[in-house]
Amino acid sequence: AAVDLQAVHDTLVSVAFEAGRMILAANPSSISTDTKMNAVDIVTETDQAVERMVTARLRAAHPSFAFVGEETYQPGVTRITSSPTFIVDPIDGTTNFVHGFPNACISLGLVVDRVPSVGVVYNPFQDLLFTGVRGAGSYMHRNASLEDGKGKGERVKLPLGGDRPLGDLSSALVSIEWGSQRDGENFEVKARTFRKLAAAKESGGGMIGGMRSLGSAALNLCACAAGQLDMYWEGGCYAWDVAAGWCILSEAGGQMVSGNPGGWETEVDSRVYLAVRGASAGQKELVEEFWGVIGD
Ligand code: IPD
Repeated sequence: AAVDLQAVHDTLVSVAFEAGRMILAANPSSISTDTKMNAVDIVTETDQAVERMVTARLRAAHPSFAFVGEETYQPGVTRITSSPTFIVDPIDGTTNFVHGFPNACISLGLVVDRVPSVGVVYNPFQDLLFTGVRGAGSYMHRNASLEDGKGKGERVKLPLGGDRPLGDLSSALVSIEWGSQRDGENFEVKARTFRKLAAAKESGGGMIGGMRSLGSAALNLCACAAGQLDMYWEGGCYAWDVAAGWCILSEAGGQMVSGNPGGWETEVDSRVYLAVRGASAGQKELVEEFWGVIGD
């Protein structure tokens, strides 16, 4: 049977608000952290508690759907199949969360046939919610929990201000993240990419307008969807970092392509992504210019 995406959206929004309350209730000065891959790859008891709550809620609401979550992922074992699958990051931007830097969120996505089909991303520190439903557009909700309580929240269609044309890289605001892996081949790719972008003039193009690292993949994608960032590149993140934001971005006319030059088609678990915002013109040209700068 076809999946009722709007019903899934409604479930995800209420789960996101519940997660937001848990995140806000955690006292940053006493959050205990544990590490995963290395000293900067951290997980808190709040990440784990939120994932447990989300799993329980989603299993009850949609028992037949598969579930992939950051804290229960098993390398080499967990796979995303063509079945409807919830893909969840309980706290995206955990390092920001631990520091009380208010750029962190819960990221809740549904993929169907591996295509991002519902996305709900909620930053409880700013009470800012982003939602997207395949075929039905995407929205930013300010004072979102007030809106939920039928208060004075505000819902705005994305991209904010409509789809302005894109210029070249010298006028682009680009987000690029270090992530937590700091060695090996993946680190070399990131370091080279940072350097090439920062020195874009050397490759014969213009300089890059600006580079940012804000610490949450999902919120980077939402900022692209909103038209606040022009592009976002990352090599090394996972499906739960991008699944929800990807749906929100595509519904705002944006595009996800490969972070490796030449890949116009990409997959939710490809781990190397380049996002470009929706625009009435210039998308393809800007992606090609970007790939030209980061390529050999
Ligand atoms: C991380 C953030 C960060 C990105 C990393 C992610 P987490 O997610 O999204 O911006 O650079 O690749 O792992 O660990 O805070 O959920």
